[in-house]
Amino acid sequence: MSDSANVIKHVASPLARQTLLDRELTSPVAGSQPIRILPWLQVVKIGGRSIMDRGAEAILPLVDELRALLPEHRLLILTGSGIRARHLYSVGLDLGLPVGSLAPLAASEAGQNGHMLAALLAPDGVSYIEHPTVASQLAIHLSAARAVVGSAFPPYHHHEFPISRIPQHRADTGAFLVADALGAAGLTIVEDVDGVYDTDPRAAGGATARLVRETSAADLAAHDGTLPVDRALLEVMATARHLERVQVVNGLVPGRLTAALRGEHVGTIIRTGARPS
Ligand SMILES: Nc1ncnc2c1ncn2[C@@H]1O[C@H](COP(=O)(O)OP(=O)(O)OP(=O)(O)O)[C@@H](O)[C@H]1O
Ligand SMILES: [Mg+2]
Repeated sequence: MSDSANVIKHVASPLARQTLLDRELTSPVAGSQPIRILPWLQVVKIGGRSIMDRGAEAILPLVDELRALLPEHRLLILTGSGIRARHLYSVGLDLGLPVGSLAPLAASEAGQNGHMLAALLAPDGVSYIEHPTVASQLAIHLSAARAVVGSAFPPYHHHEFPISRIPQHRADTGAFLVADALGAAGLTIVEDVDGVYDTDPRAAGGATARLVRETSAADLAAHDGTLPVDRALLEVMATARHLERVQVVNGLVPGRLTAALRGEHVGTIIRTGARPS
């Protein structure tokens, strides 16, 4: 046997003989900053309940705004689920379905919202793409079009954590995970409120709710009341690698999304655990 065959057989790997559970051993290898795969990408998450469920009145002006943004930004537009997912959850829970069965059902509803949004933007070259395409062919799609639409839900299916019977990794978490993994320039979460308040502004007694202009994922995690974003979002924000902040904006007010994508502070900025590299 030749020497070169021996060399090929013994592939050197710094992690080959180590347990992956020892941080002191793995940190020198795995602790460095990952690359930014799509640093020019802007990710926009459109609320399922807050925007899509409101129908034409809320969606059409937002579509006009997204269309006008296309020459300026390359967008991954991700839609959340809405009222139909709530109905799915209640029927599925009544039937005794496990969380891993409910997660893809809700995700498919987020996808339905995405299909509707993509149809409205189709004349501008925008189409809906499925998770595997987001995972492996986003760059080529965004070379052909200024934006694509996808489901904001992460693809956990039967791998969803069984902490709750309702999937804990929902649209905001999915949008953040993909935006941070891609090293995107930003993530903007579009809601029907001006941002995060100290208490739900639409609930009873909401008239006195105070808008929080800037906060951190850690501070929000300690907040007892309801939030307009997934609780699990705050957990994944704590360990973010690229995105240093996300902004929650009101999509019912024309111009807010445009301003946010231009870097203006027009909603609630939530700082993550990521530090500038
Ligand atoms: N502390 C809070 N600050 C602001 N809004 C809040 C707060 N707590 C609850 N809300 C409510 O959250 C609502 C938005 O609901 P939610 O976040 O479930 O919708 P969504 O983002 O459209 O849904 P999805 O994540 O399925 O896309 C707002 O209309 C508001 O009434
Ligand atoms: Mg929300």
